[in-house]
Amino acid sequence: MKSRVTIVLGLQWGDEGKGKILDVMASEADWVLRAQGGNNAGHTVEIGGEKFVLHLVPSGILRAKVSCLIAGGAVVDPAGLVKEIEGLAKRKIRTQGRLFLAEQAHLVLPQHRAVDQGSEKKRGLAKIGTTGRGIGPAYSDKATRVGLRAGELALPAAELARRLRERVAAHNRAASSQGWEKISATKTVREIEKAARFLRPYLADGVTLAHRAVAGGKRILIEGAQGTFLDVDHGTYPFVTSSHCTAGGACTGTGVPPTAIQRVVGVLKAYTTRVGGGPFVTEDGTLGHLLHGMGREFGSTTGRARRCGWFDAVLVRRAVQLNGVTEMAITNLDGLDGLEKIPVCVGYRFEGKILHEPPVESSDWARCRPVYRVFEGWCEPTTEARHWKELPRRARIYLAAISQMVGATIGIISVGAGREQTFRHG
Ligand code: IMP
Repeated sequence: MKSRVTIVLGLQWGDEGKGKILDVMASEADWVLRAQGGNNAGHTVEIGGEKFVLHLVPSGILRAKVSCLIAGGAVVDPAGLVKEIEGLAKRKIRTQGRLFLAEQAHLVLPQHRAVDQGSEKKRGLAKIGTTGRGIGPAYSDKATRVGLRAGELALPAAELARRLRERVAAHNRAASSQGWEKISATKTVREIEKAARFLRPYLADGVTLAHRAVAGGKRILIEGAQGTFLDVDHGTYPFVTSSHCTAGGACTGTGVPPTAIQRVVGVLKAYTTRVGGGPFVTEDGTLGHLLHGMGREFGSTTGRARRCGWFDAVLVRRAVQLNGVTEMAITNLDGLDGLEKIPVCVGYRFEGKILHEPPVESSDWARCRPVYRVFEGWCEPTTEARHWKELPRRARIYLAAISQMVGATIGIISVGAGREQTFRHG
């Protein structure tokens, strides 16, 4: 049977508008699988003026006929997930029987948040700017093979409590010397046991579920979180998250093999943003001021104002290569509507040379200066466009140039937060 699996992931530093694109694409999907990351993500979807922000639950949950899986590559804060499911229930979104939590997924526990926040404090000015949700320490425990997995939430209460107490005791022994806050074992056991009772009906073997869906010819979307340059291997290390946000991570995280992937949709903004520290060659305070003044570009997880800059073709070209992008979905075009001139970075000036590939070291990357090609702005709203031909001529020139520079075709264009403000190219 022909595979119908599509990966949808971010080509920049996250917040590209994946939630919105996934929601639109989910109208033609049977399954949405979240591959990696945790509740550091914030996927925003607006439906009829109503706003939904999802952190762990795949965006497909907002489409009644779609089933969703939080796959084994994700890390799950049990209490956070319960809160998210309860929030959906209050808004009449049913999750029972259509949302599954892979037993393979690792748990984010209170001590992970303490380590994350304590370590950031210790780094001072050199901090990474994490979301403080315990993501790095949870992946760290996974890699050192001392993590607890979601499947363990189904253990008899006494055994689960024993395992939790053991991990909290290990944390508390190291806490003082490391500058981490100590954690109450009793409180942890109470919190996790309560969440475990709630989450047990959602537990499933994620790999078997995913493979049944593939074998059954179901239309599957694999939902990426964060973005290519937050990938722990391919991002601006160490200013990255701790998971694999690239296409390879989508396969590892879900257990769906690379040979089953039919399409890779790379989501990107018409400009660039990032939250947290790290190099950002095209960062521009004036553009940031303008976008923040429009009420745009505030983080949906932490509320932080995002750093803003011009489109960086060097960055996105690398992302297209890394992910094997078959088409791009470009969002937030309307953010550029009022500008007379729109620079695009076509190369990096570094130590007297022009680079067309990003440097390996973040410290070198931070010393690169942008080489810009400046486009004429269209200075009219794009928000009412519903077809390529309805876009201003200069907007079409801008998009066509970007597509050519990065080496991937544009499949989808988004000109606003609403479902209806999305259309296919051509
Ligand atoms: P962590 O994932 O909380 O460890 O944060 C590491 C870096 O990734 C920080 O710069 C965060 O701001 C960034 N980050 C993590 N998740 C997201 C996301 O969903 N969107 C944008 N940035 C993110």
